[in-house]
Amino acid sequence: MSEQPLIVPNPIDLFDSSSESTIPTLSSRPIGIFDSGIGGLTVANALVKQLPNENIIYFGDTAHMPYGDKSSAAIQAYSVKIAHMLLQQHCKLILIACNSASAAAYELVKEYVNTQAIVMNVIDPVIGYLRNHYSKKNIGLIGTKQTVNSNVYKKKIDELNLNITLTSHPTNLLASAIEEFGNNHVIDSLLEEYLSHPSLQQIDALILACTHYPIIKEKIIHHFDRKIDIIDPSDIVAMTVQKKLEGDQLLNLKGQGNKHFYISDYTESFASGTKRFFTEEITLKHYPLWE
Ligand code: DGL
Repeated sequence: MSEQPLIVPNPIDLFDSSSESTIPTLSSRPIGIFDSGIGGLTVANALVKQLPNENIIYFGDTAHMPYGDKSSAAIQAYSVKIAHMLLQQHCKLILIACNSASAAAYELVKEYVNTQAIVMNVIDPVIGYLRNHYSKKNIGLIGTKQTVNSNVYKKKIDELNLNITLTSHPTNLLASAIEEFGNNHVIDSLLEEYLSHPSLQQIDALILACTHYPIIKEKIIHHFDRKIDIIDPSDIVAMTVQKKLEGDQLLNLKGQGNKHFYISDYTESFASGTKRFFTEEITLKHYPLWE
């Protein structure tokens, strides 16, 4: 273990003012972000740019990556345990920066966390964006098997009568390949195979419904020859988080935020490899959540 985790006593009720004396003020509490691996760093990066004052705790569950191939029950169990850990760190908001976990575990995590923190996912902000910008359009979606099979985007689009035709295509190996190779040329043939699928040929825009995919966004833009919009959720999610914190008067308005990045399975080469993809200077540390 490279660093002692910041364990503090029992989770607290975010809206219970009687516990205020022993814990940081509401607005200075961290935002907790989690994903199966490094993919959620695309969202964390956008959030740090948008909200530089915020304290951030990131958890990448690399021990269980990829989530996309796991059962909903397994993803739910991982997500609730991670949410518990983030509550122990007094997070004011928990952001599920993973489409697979947002699809499988958002409702359960929300129920578990209850009023102790705000819980957000990466799907609803994109649905809001589609409503404002893509009515009557043909939209494609790529994501993990879990995200695509859950049909969660289509259900939400239909519930809101958005009048959007959605075609989803699973790109099962992509997240693991990105985790292994980053934006390397090895990804090219995989992308070519997935993106040439007939179902993705008549679309106006493509949703990157896995938080790993913005890492290879330029390759995807290039594949479609800049003819369609590529919907990268990172900034959309960051703006939605900002609005939510603003609305609840929970924005941290003072100082430069602290950032802590943890992964559940650590190797030096993985940590140094990650540095190649992210502009923000980060140090990944081992957090032995499953040991
Ligand atoms: N980045 C995640 C997502 O958004 C998960 C990828 C995976 O672990 O399979 O779906």
